[in-house]
Amino acid sequence: MGEQVRQGSIGVREAGPEDAEFLVDMLLAAFNWTGEERYTRKQILKDKSTSLYVAGWQREGDLGVIAVDLAGPSGLQIPVGAAWVRRFPARNPGFGFVAEDVPELSVAVLSHHRGRGIGSGLIRSLAPRLAGAGITRVSLSVEHGNPARALYERLGFTAVTEQEGATTMVADVNTLIQSVRS
Ligand SMILES: CC(C)(COP(=O)(O)OP(=O)(O)OC[C@H]1O[C@@H](n2cnc3c(N)ncnc32)[C@H](O)[C@@H]1OP(=O)(O)O)[C@@H](O)C(=O)NCCC(=O)NCCS
Repeated sequence: MGEQVRQGSIGVREAGPEDAEFLVDMLLAAFNWTGEERYTRKQILKDKSTSLYVAGWQREGDLGVIAVDLAGPSGLQIPVGAAWVRRFPARNPGFGFVAEDVPELSVAVLSHHRGRGIGSGLIRSLAPRLAGAGITRVSLSVEHGNPARALYERLGFTAVTEQEGATTMVADVNTLIQSVRS
């Protein structure tokens, strides 16, 4: 299963093409962060402005990590969270687009595993992989009121623009890497 960063009974491995379905689950969790079903799975897959985060996973340049519960039955390693990046062209941007060479980060953890350090751990373990791929900055879009913003700020993201109902944030990959050591 490749390299794993252990965190209690949680491991982290690199995402592969076989994780496409799970990334759809995580994208849905990210869009439905309030806990209400604001979007159905069908809607996020049908609407191009939302499906673009996962469509055709895994494309060239796509990079992600999956948190797995290492204590699954019969040695099964069950995915519990994911963080991944994808670049977008200016003509077809994501909600947190800042530039074509700045990929956008998506992250989510299954609801009953939140608040245990898994989300931060995912972003931290993604950071050196981003650096290895020559990525120097990442962006994201976080809706107003989402407590995830505090986590992003803690890791070194700063707000760059405001949209209606959401903030676009950017982090230097080096800052994310340093947050591992601090
Ligand atoms: C945001 C998210 C990925 C963070 O993962 P996590 O494993 O809960 O995060 P950690 O345990 O590493 O860090 C917890 C921090 O995340 C934030 N957070 C966001 N939602 C949270 C939740 N439901 N429960 C606990 N913490 C949450 C808090 O600010 C918390 O900060 P604190 O430790 O200073 O209190 C996860 O909570 C999640 O999947 N939320 C719903 C989807 C979402 O909002 N995705 C991001 C869209 S921009």
